[in-house]
Amino acid sequence: MSRSHHDVLIIGGGVAGLAMALEVASSRSVTLLQPRPDDRGASRWAQGGIAAVLSPQDDADTHVTDTLVAGDGLCDEAAVRFTVEQGPAAIEWLLSLGVPFTADTAPEADFPYHLTREGGHSARRIIHADDATGRALIETLEQHVAQHPAIRVEHELTALDLLRDRAGHCRGAYCIDESGRAHELLATDTVLATGGASGLYRHTTSPCPASGEGMMMAAELGAELMNLEFQQFHPTCLYDPKGSPFLISEAVRGEGGHLLGAEGQRFMLELDHRAELAPRDIVARAIDSEMQRSGLDHVWLDICHLGEARIRQHFPTIHAHCASRGLDIARSPIPVVPAAHYSCGGIRTDLKGASRVPHLYAIGEVACTGLHGANRMASNSLLECLAFAHGCAYHLATRPPPSQAPLVEPVTGRQDVDVTKLRELRDNVRDIMSSRVAIVRHDQGLGEAASALSELETRCMAHCHDTRAHPEASSLRHAIRLARLTVACARQRRESRGLHHNQDYAVHAESQAAPSLIDTSAITKTGS
Ligand code: SIN
Repeated sequence: MSRSHHDVLIIGGGVAGLAMALEVASSRSVTLLQPRPDDRGASRWAQGGIAAVLSPQDDADTHVTDTLVAGDGLCDEAAVRFTVEQGPAAIEWLLSLGVPFTADTAPEADFPYHLTREGGHSARRIIHADDATGRALIETLEQHVAQHPAIRVEHELTALDLLRDRAGHCRGAYCIDESGRAHELLATDTVLATGGASGLYRHTTSPCPASGEGMMMAAELGAELMNLEFQQFHPTCLYDPKGSPFLISEAVRGEGGHLLGAEGQRFMLELDHRAELAPRDIVARAIDSEMQRSGLDHVWLDICHLGEARIRQHFPTIHAHCASRGLDIARSPIPVVPAAHYSCGGIRTDLKGASRVPHLYAIGEVACTGLHGANRMASNSLLECLAFAHGCAYHLATRPPPSQAPLVEPVTGRQDVDVTKLRELRDNVRDIMSSRVAIVRHDQGLGEAASALSELETRCMAHCHDTRAHPEASSLRHAIRLARLTVACARQRRESRGLHHNQDYAVHAESQAAPSLIDTSAITKTGS
C-alpha cells in the first residue's frame, strides 16, 4: 500500500467537484479524484440549466419564495437565501470562464442570454446552454482544471473509505487503483462531491448514478445524514425499456409541452393551477396515478405544436437523440415515464459545506444544505453546487488548523469477490427500492422493504466481509446500508410531504414539519 500527503482532497469530478477545485486552488493546493469512466455521475447529463435571478423582471425574494413553496415546508430559509443571492455572481463567473450559454437574440429580450422556465418557477430564470447545460459546464470547467498549476487530477483512483484519526477528524481517503492496489491519501481537508443515491433505483435519468457511497463514507465517520426519504423522481424520462436512460428536460414543459394521458387528455389541467409547470413531486405523482388508472407503462409529452424549427432550435440534443431511436418529436408525442433523478437528502452541512466531522466537507448532491427541503425545485441544484463550492473554498482559504492526532490504522485484508454475485445483490436492492420506496409508499411496503434489505445486508456480508477488497463490494455495502437508512427515515415520517407520499397518511402532519436527522453513532466505525 502506498501513502501520500495532500492539502485539499476533493472526491468527485462533477460540477460540484470541478467548481470547488477551481475556487479553492487560488489559496490551497488541490488533488481531485475524478474516476473513469467519465460518463459516471449526473452532472454531465443535466439538460435544463441553472436557476438564477438575472432578468430585470425577476427578484431574489420571488426565487426564495418559489423554492420554499416547492420544498413543501422543510427548506432552511437561510440556506435558500444564501444560495439565491449568489446566483448572479456565479453566472458571471461561469461566463468569465467561457461557458457557452445560449444567447437571446429576440429584439424584445431584456437579458443577453435566453432564460427558460421550469416547474415551480414563477419567472423565466433558467440560463442554459441549449439543452445540454451539464455537458457544457463540465467541458469548460475541465479545461480550466487541466490548466491550473495548483490542481492535480487523479483518474485512476476510486475512494472506498475515509481515513480518520484518534481525535475523530477526517484525514483523507483510502483508495484503490485500477489494478487493485491500495493507496492512502492523507489530506488536511477532504471534500466529498460524490453525488446522490438515485442508483438505489432500477430506472434512473442518468446511465451511471451514484448509490450514496459518499453519504455512507461520511456517516461511518460520524457525520449526520438528513432527509433521506426525499428521493426525487423526474417526471419525464424517455420511455424506452430496451434503451439506456435519457432525460426529456423539464424545459420542454417550460416552453409549452403538454402531458397527455391514455385518451390524449391533458390530465394536469384539473390537478393543479400550474398544470405541467407544477413542482416535480406533484407532476411525477400525477403521471404515476395516470399510469395506474390507464394500465399503460407511460404517458405522453407533446411539443409538436411548437413547430419543427423552434423544436430544433431549443432542443437540438433531445430532437437528435430521439431521432436516433426512431422518434420524430416534431411530429408525434414522446412516451415518457418518471425515473429516479435526484436525492434531496444527504450529509448535513452548514453554509461553509462543513459536516459535523472536523476537516470533512460535502458539496453538491451528496450534501443536504437545507436548500431543497422536501422537494427540490428544478435547476436549483447546479446553482447549489456553485454557491456552496464558493462558500466552502472561502472558508478553506483561512486554513482551519490541521489535526495532529495519530491516525486510526485501517484494518484491511485481501479477499476474492464474485462480481456477478455482487451485481445480483445490487439488482435485488434496486428491485426492493423501486417496488416499495418509490413515488407512492405505504406502511406495509416500507416494513417489507426494511426486512428484505436487512436480509440482503446479511447475505452481502457473508459473501464479502472485507468491503475494502473491491470497489463493487464497497459500493454495494454502502448502497445497502443507505437504502436501510432511507427506509428508516420513510417509516418515521408518518405524513405525506413533498416527495414522500404515504397512502396511509395522505396529508401533512404539522407536528412532523421538521427535517429527518439520522443518528449515525450506531453505524460509526469502531476503532481504537
Ligand atoms: C431537466 O432538465 O429537467 C433537469 C433539470 C434539473 O433536474 O434541475
